[in-house]
Amino acid sequence: MNLIKCNNYDEMSAQAAKIIAAQLMKKPNCVLGLPTGSTPLGVYGILVQMNKNDKIDFTKVKTFNLDEYYPISKKNTQSYHFFMHDNFFNHINIDEQNVNILNGEAENPQIECELYEEKIKNSGGIDLQLLGIGQNGHIGFNEPGKALKSKTHLIELTQNTINANSRFFEKTEDVPKKSLTMGIGTIMKAKEIVIIASGREKANAVYELLSGEITTANPSTILNAHNNVTLIADAAALGEN
Ligand code: PGA
Repeated sequence: MNLIKCNNYDEMSAQAAKIIAAQLMKKPNCVLGLPTGSTPLGVYGILVQMNKNDKIDFTKVKTFNLDEYYPISKKNTQSYHFFMHDNFFNHINIDEQNVNILNGEAENPQIECELYEEKIKNSGGIDLQLLGIGQNGHIGFNEPGKALKSKTHLIELTQNTINANSRFFEKTEDVPKKSLTMGIGTIMKAKEIVIIASGREKANAVYELLSGEITTANPSTILNAHNNVTLIADAAALGEN
């Protein structure tokens, strides 16, 4: 795993944006895998600015988001559908038809997951997957457990994740208990993976990721089995201050 050490959140964001911008220039019709959460907001902000300044072009880019709460309405301001449009897609020149996000309104989640896998496959696969990391080591919403699922699936969120995400909701009880998420295998099929981490609360998960040991107790550690992963972490996430 390549490690890029950064002093702070802004540096981490700039480094990740640089890698994504380089990918867009190398392959203008590339397929990006994208996360939600607080961590990528800085990256999205820089990419929006680069797009406004005509430095990068999204017209041919396809995106697949990692996960979505289930069930949730697209209009709900806490849905990842809303989040991605509000923070990124509404501000860049991407074709909405090329935006793929798991549908939290789907009647049959199983079918929704199967269709999503098909769509990723038919797009030629993900060229560059950007990931955040949960305090408990989750990637997407692949939560720690005895076994990790390979394909896109419906999952029960752990209490740790519900608590961590409750900051966005009025009450903890409002956080949906389930989510649709790309599976570990879906993520591992990406040709290149960039994982970003900022802040002291991530230090333990990042420490385990860097230990090299692979364990389902920290799903991110599976990335040690991928041959093209870059971890971009700030000093706090590396436990250095
Ligand atoms: P965060 O979430 O960026 O809001 O910390 C990361 C994650 O849970 O994957």
